[in-house]
Amino acid sequence: MLYKALRPLLFSLEAETAHHVALRAARCLSALPPVARWLRRNVARPADVPLERLGLTFPHRVGLAAGLDKNAVAPWAWWGFGFGFLELGTITPRPQAGNPRPRMFRIRQQSALVNRMGFNNDGAEAVAARLSKLRSRGAPPFPIAISVGKNATTPIEQAEDDYRSAARILAPLADLVSVNISSPNTPGLRSLQTPGQAARLVEAIREVCQGRPVLVKFAPELEGPELDAVVRACLDAGAAGFIATNTLSTRGRDDLPEGGLSGLPLKDIARERIAAIRRAAGDAALVVGCGGVDDAASAQTLLDAGADLVQLYTALVYKGPFLAAAISRGLRR
Ligand SMILES: Cc1cc2nc3c(=O)[nH]c(=O)nc-3n(C[C@H](O)[C@H](O)[C@H](O)COP(=O)(O)O)c2cc1C
Repeated sequence: MLYKALRPLLFSLEAETAHHVALRAARCLSALPPVARWLRRNVARPADVPLERLGLTFPHRVGLAAGLDKNAVAPWAWWGFGFGFLELGTITPRPQAGNPRPRMFRIRQQSALVNRMGFNNDGAEAVAARLSKLRSRGAPPFPIAISVGKNATTPIEQAEDDYRSAARILAPLADLVSVNISSPNTPGLRSLQTPGQAARLVEAIREVCQGRPVLVKFAPELEGPELDAVVRACLDAGAAGFIATNTLSTRGRDDLPEGGLSGLPLKDIARERIAAIRRAAGDAALVVGCGGVDDAASAQTLLDAGADLVQLYTALVYKGPFLAAAISRGLRR
């Protein structure tokens, strides 16, 4: 209701400016955990149907996807809005500015976004300091995954060093670590989506992440026997699960800005990839579905395809911050 009134104002701003305004508001809320708790109980009112996986308790199945709170500035706000878990990041070992603006675009007729942010983030040490403060004061009681990536200036042959150093710094402060090898906006990154490279990365990260479960996030373009082979190699290397999918590259399309497409156009492809991953991975792996979730029916579709949990980002821009809570209620019904 409130968001319906606010949306025209936010949409009158350039997309990334609107994002910063919204994130600043979330950051203010996050500084007040009692208010966030009150908001969750009295306004967001998610339907908590706890799910136990990997030794963690998820209050319900609908979480925040990576990229919205890259720097972990508003964890209590996400609790207040009624989310069931978080994925923060993607965070690189060293801070970096990302690509020049404009780099985020609304595609309103498709309820979609295109972004080419390029892992703009404060760097692992700064985010770790923030999370450490959060943990010492009491973090919200839901699982927090932290997504790690490589700096743009690191040659792809040395990518492993970057993932490993980001994971070493951040894993102790996370419940899960996710490995982003699927952003279309860091040149060469997706070349890590081969059985050999992905397995080596999972092994390297597991060595430093103190037993935290490791999830690997895939691009929607990865499919068929290649996807099956990477899934199996990651599991053999000790991965606990997968996130499917990241954004769809718009390269070669002249109807859209260059970058990664998210939102409704990803819905069907995400469902197909989740089903394929579940078939290849078996029952034990945790599968997180992501792409075009914007209501309870679309979330249920991904769960039916084999996901244990779902995440969303783009639909929050179009439908507002209480969407995850509303979807959790719809799922319970
Ligand atoms: C502006 C923007 C930034 C993103 N940044 C990241 C990121 O840093 N790491 C990542 O793994 N995914 C990132 N994503 C991808 C989302 O996590 C998600 O996989 C994708 O948007 C599909 O979900 P959706 O349709 O619900 O948005 C980003 C998406 C958007 C729109």
